[in-house]
Amino acid sequence: MALCALPLVSGAGLSETFADEPPPPVKVLVTYHSLSGNTERLAEAVIDGVKSVPGTQALLKRVGKVTADDLFSADAVVVGSPVYWSNMSGEVKTFFDNWQFKFGVFPEFKMKNKIGAAFATGGQVSSGKEVTMLTILAAMLGNQMIVVSGGGAFGASATTEGDSPGIDNQELADAKALGRRVAEVALMMQRGSSH
Ligand SMILES: Cc1cc2nc3c(=O)[nH]c(=O)nc-3n(C[C@H](O)[C@H](O)[C@H](O)COP(=O)(O)O)c2cc1C
Repeated sequence: MALCALPLVSGAGLSETFADEPPPPVKVLVTYHSLSGNTERLAEAVIDGVKSVPGTQALLKRVGKVTADDLFSADAVVVGSPVYWSNMSGEVKTFFDNWQFKFGVFPEFKMKNKIGAAFATGGQVSSGKEVTMLTILAAMLGNQMIVVSGGGAFGASATTEGDSPGIDNQELADAKALGRRVAEVALMMQRGSSH
């Protein structure tokens, strides 16, 4: 009997696969709010980073368009917001509130152990980008997600007005690095759970 024909049961006992079958791709949802396009540009760079890692499937959507299936089928979720009054925008906050109101994450903790990460754009150099990323990560931690950084200490960010108008190549490279790191960690989790 050929060994490769034997079914393998994962350590967690949750899935069955064959020894010579590739694992399913890890799914990474990148979602954002953007009114004037800056956060959207960073989101596209995050997606480029995700796609640069073989074995991933990337989905880019505005926060208002995300469905329960998008959220719960994702292995990793990366959320981006413009800075509004030194915090995430109302649309992004509503998105997180809807995890319960529309999608019913509690009491089962349906987002538990998914990978989470954040990115932000703000008009000024020092006026809330890090707070914005940290409050996004805090919402994820409250859902028992596993948060990771990349690009910067708390995620990727860009300054878009004043002395630093527009998004520069370094900021785009940081966003790409964030997407790459999220995909790599999601793949590590997938490998770990199938041993
Ligand atoms: C209502 C409002 C509040 C804002 N508050 C801040 C702020 O507190 N700090 C900051 O750096 N930028 C602030 N900005 C600027 C935006 O964060 C910045 O232009 C951002 O890049 C816009 O992203 P978008 O192009 O994706 O919409 C604010 C913009 C708006 C419209």
